[in-house]
Amino acid sequence: MTGPLDIARITAWLDDLVPDRDPVLAALEAEAAETGFPIIGPASGHLCYLLARLTSARRVCELGSGFGYSTAWFARAVKENGGGEVHHTVMDETLSARARAVLGELGVLEPVVFHIGEAVATLNELVGPFDLVFLDIDKDGYPAALPVIEAKLRPGGVLIADNMLRGGRIFDEDDRSLETESIRAFTRMVMESPDWIATVAPVRDGVLVARWEPRPAQRA
Ligand SMILES: C[S@@+](CC[C@H](N)C(=O)[O-])C[C@H]1O[C@@H](n2cnc3c(N)ncnc32)[C@H](O)[C@@H]1O
Repeated sequence: MTGPLDIARITAWLDDLVPDRDPVLAALEAEAAETGFPIIGPASGHLCYLLARLTSARRVCELGSGFGYSTAWFARAVKENGGGEVHHTVMDETLSARARAVLGELGVLEPVVFHIGEAVATLNELVGPFDLVFLDIDKDGYPAALPVIEAKLRPGGVLIADNMLRGGRIFDEDDRSLETESIRAFTRMVMESPDWIATVAPVRDGVLVARWEPRPAQRA
């Protein structure tokens, strides 16, 4: 069968290719679909897990963690990499408590450190360097997060950022909303920088994958 390569079709196919997962994780996916809570979903979650495994990441900081779905993928990877830390950050106390319960049920609580507060300010306070930073906060916060991420990633460290396509709105020239403009600005900041090697993988809503390669003068 042939047909157009539309993103919904590709996403469904990629989601289907993700190996069977713990029923707790599958239940979170069903809950997110029902309530509209914005999780990264199976294909992007599995991509995060793969990247964390490929880079043997031991220190991960998530910016915008929700009820722990994406955290679960990173925590599993870090555990399999030999242990370390996965920092979970949200502003909401209830979500943080829910994530703690979920990650406990999944048996991956051990590496997770919970922070309640603004995520970028939290990262700014944490002692680096990190091997991997995952960015999934409110989209208008992406450009201001970048210098903080750069200060905390080790050279050769990885940045993953979700929602780079904003459901296709980045292509709509009439969309001048703060969120869409922020994603456009953030895309330019990373892609035009000589200190990043990056691409946007069109998985689900677009996942930026970037390696921090600061010129010698930039290194701490
Ligand atoms: C897109 S959801 C995260 C989903 C999660 N990464 C996942 O895939 O399971 C973003 C979450 O981070 C919170 N959030 C958004 N901006 C934030 C910020 N600047 N600081 C802390 N939390 C933030 C939101 O309230 C929400 O719970």
